[in-house]
Amino acid sequence: MTIASAVDAVLLAQIVEVSADAIFSEDLLGHITSWNAAAERLYGCAAADMLGRSASDLLPEETASQLRSVHELALTGQRVDRFDTWHLRPDGRHVAVSLTVSPLRAADGSIAGLATSVEDVTERVRLTAELEDVHRVLEKQYKALGRSNRDLEQFAYVASHDLSEPLRVMTGFVQLLEKRYAGVLGEQGQRYVFHVVDGAARMRILIDDLLEYSRFLRSEQTTSRVDTGAVARRVVLSREAVGVELSELPDVWSDDASVTAVLDNLISNALKFHRPDVPARVVVSGALLGAQVRLCVDDDGIGIDPEYRERVFGMFSRLHVREAYPGTGIGLAIVQQIAERCDGQAWVEPSELGGSRFCIMLPAPPDPPAVSNDSSPRPSANEDAA
Ligand SMILES: Nc1ncnc2c1ncn2[C@@H]1O[C@H](COP(=O)(O)OP(=O)(O)OP(=O)(O)O)[C@@H](O)[C@H]1O
Ligand SMILES: [Mg+2]
Repeated sequence: MTIASAVDAVLLAQIVEVSADAIFSEDLLGHITSWNAAAERLYGCAAADMLGRSASDLLPEETASQLRSVHELALTGQRVDRFDTWHLRPDGRHVAVSLTVSPLRAADGSIAGLATSVEDVTERVRLTAELEDVHRVLEKQYKALGRSNRDLEQFAYVASHDLSEPLRVMTGFVQLLEKRYAGVLGEQGQRYVFHVVDGAARMRILIDDLLEYSRFLRSEQTTSRVDTGAVARRVVLSREAVGVELSELPDVWSDDASVTAVLDNLISNALKFHRPDVPARVVVSGALLGAQVRLCVDDDGIGIDPEYRERVFGMFSRLHVREAYPGTGIGLAIVQQIAERCDGQAWVEPSELGGSRFCIMLPAPPDPPAVSNDSSPRPSANEDAA
């Protein structure tokens, strides 16, 4: 050995010694010939105790044959990179490791042994196992949730559908009573019958709305580009509404029925909940925000107290008596469902017009939409149609 190569060897030995990865070498008989400081830490065993011992002592029974094939491959001159397995520490504990096994060559080029670099992957293995556990639990919960949602939809449909028939019979007979026995019933009796008929009519509306809601939940949607502006104009026309300003609205990636339901419910609410003696002013606007479209309906109506902003989206949840404003309280529940179906959201905030501003986020079409995100108001749909 020349002086230069002797110096190189000393430097190399130092590099191996300070390596953060455990490194050990073995001769052709499998006896350990070097064992660095990181190996001492990882296996909890000093070099003095390991030198000369068989490297196969590190192989746990269950992985021994696999690891022997890795060694055999390395002994043919090939390097085996990042082989994940388990090693056995001399104290009997298993340690998760990633091994790189390389052949060591003598000066004449012949293979003289193997060098193994060992990365401690205990933490990675632990995290992977934890993630798998979490994933399993989530999958289970997701399935259970899907089942309970389907059961609820089924329940709502069956309940509302099956309630319809007896209600129809009851209403029919009470109406007969009212017609044929008015004289016998007297004034008070007629008032009672009126309340029964009125209650039955309300129940009819509730059941119809519940049916519509559950049908909506059960319907399969196929998504495509929807011309939001055209839907909005249709809604305004069908409601023969005045005072509704439509901005240019970006297309959305949804289905016609959902977008119609959203705009119809929000516009009809904005028109309905106006201030007494003041005709409603409503502005429908939209903006493209990255991969999503925000649609908003502003009004100058009676507004909503901050404490009720979430509650109004609940099923049959209303803030007013029927006599003041008609309705059953299903409209915003449908809007909420549509938002949730596409991982979007619906919310209400105060409007600059003085009333409420209801907004919903829907997905934008995958390709660039035809409309820019300029949402300055245009003339109302009624004027358009004129
Ligand atoms: N634009 C609005 N301004 C003020 N209050 C509103 C507005 N929109 C909804 N609300 C309140 O939220 C409640 C729930 O609205 P939702 O649309 O679900 O029901 P509804 O309009 O009363 O009945 P339905 O839509 O079933 O005919 C309303 O009863 C009302 O109290
Ligand atoms: Mg409504």
